[in-house]
Amino acid sequence: MKVTVVGAGHVGATTAQRIAERSIADVYLVDIVEGLATGKALDLAEAAPLVGHSSVITGGTEYDPAEGSDVVVVTAGVARKPGMSRDDLLTTNGRIVSGIIEEIARVAPNAIIIMVTNPLDVTTHIAMEVSGHSRERVMGMAGALDTARFRAFIGMELGCSPVDVQAMVLGGHGDSMVPLASSATVGGVPITQLIDPERLEEIVQRTRDGGAEIVGLLKTGSAFYAPSAGVTDMVASILRDEGRIMPASVFLQGEYGIEDTFVGVPVRLGRGGVEHIIEVKLAEAELTALHASAAHVRETVDTWERLS
Ligand code: NAI
Ligand code: 2OP
Repeated sequence: MKVTVVGAGHVGATTAQRIAERSIADVYLVDIVEGLATGKALDLAEAAPLVGHSSVITGGTEYDPAEGSDVVVVTAGVARKPGMSRDDLLTTNGRIVSGIIEEIARVAPNAIIIMVTNPLDVTTHIAMEVSGHSRERVMGMAGALDTARFRAFIGMELGCSPVDVQAMVLGGHGDSMVPLASSATVGGVPITQLIDPERLEEIVQRTRDGGAEIVGLLKTGSAFYAPSAGVTDMVASILRDEGRIMPASVFLQGEYGIEDTFVGVPVRLGRGGVEHIIEVKLAEAELTALHASAAHVRETVDTWERLS
C-alpha cells in the first residue's frame, strides 16, 4: 500500500510518521519547499530501525513519485494564526489545493483523496470538483478530530479514560460544528446522567473552540498531533478495509435534508472510501444546527466560486 501526503509541515510530517510507524503503508511526502519533504522523509526513515517498522518513506517536490498511491492526504497550505478564522484561509488555500489536485488527478487518478487543508469542507468541495472523482473517493478529515477533542474533554471532566467515551461531532469544521451531547456515553452510561447541563454546555463550547484554543497557545501555528491521529485512523480504516464508523466531511445529496454540500456526518470507511453515509435520527435542535452549519459551508463555497 502507498500513501502520498502533500504538505510536509506540522500535520503532513506527523501524519507521515504515524502512517509509517503503524505500518499502514509506504509514504511519499511532497512539499513545495525544496529539501523539506526529502529531509523529513529521510529523518523518518532513519528512525525506522529504532521504532521497529519496515515502511518505506521518501520525499520530494515532484508529483510523479505519487503514481500508484492508494490514498492521497492533502495538508498543504497556510495554517491559522491567532485571531484568524478557518475561513480567512480561503483564497490562499483554495488556489494551493486546486493546483495540487490537478497534479494528483494526473499521476494518481485512482487514489482516494482525504483533505485536511482549511477551510476544510470547502477545500474538500474544490478537490471533488477539480479531480472529477465520485463522492465516495473524496472526503475531508475534521469530524475525527473534533470528536476526539469532545471525548478528551469529557474524559478530563470525569477523570476517566477518553477511550471509554463514545461521542460524535457533526457539521462543518468551524464555529458552527454540532457536538451531539445528548447521545454521548461513558462506558455505556449517558453523560447527561454524569455531567450537569451547564457544565456540559461549557464542554460543548470548548470543543467548538478546540482549534482556536491550541492556536492561542502555540501562537505560530495550529494543532497537529490530534489532527494527524484523525487522518491516520481514516487511512487505516480505508486501506485495511476496517469499516470504522466515524464522522467525515462528505458530499451530501439529500441525506439529512442537505443537498450538494460537504459537511461532517458519520460514515463507514472501507476499501471503497466512503462506503455508507449513516443517517442518525437527530433531535430537532441538532438537525437545525446541522442545517445552519451546512448553510455556512455553502456560503463559503459560493464565495470561493465568485473569487475563482
Ligand atoms: P504548516 O504550515 O506546518 O504546513 C503546511 C505545508 O504546506 C508547508 O510545509 C508548506 O510549504 C506546504 N505547502 C504550501 N503550499 C504548497 C504547495 N502548493 N504544494 C505543496 N506544499 C505546499 O501547516 P499545518 O499546521 O501542517 O496545517 C496545514 C493545513 O491543515 C492548514 O490549512 C491547517 O489549517 C489545516 N488543518 C486542518 C485540520 C482539520 O481538522 N481539517 C487540523 C489541523 C490543520
Ligand atoms: C483545528 O481545528 C486548525 O482546523 C484546525 O485545530
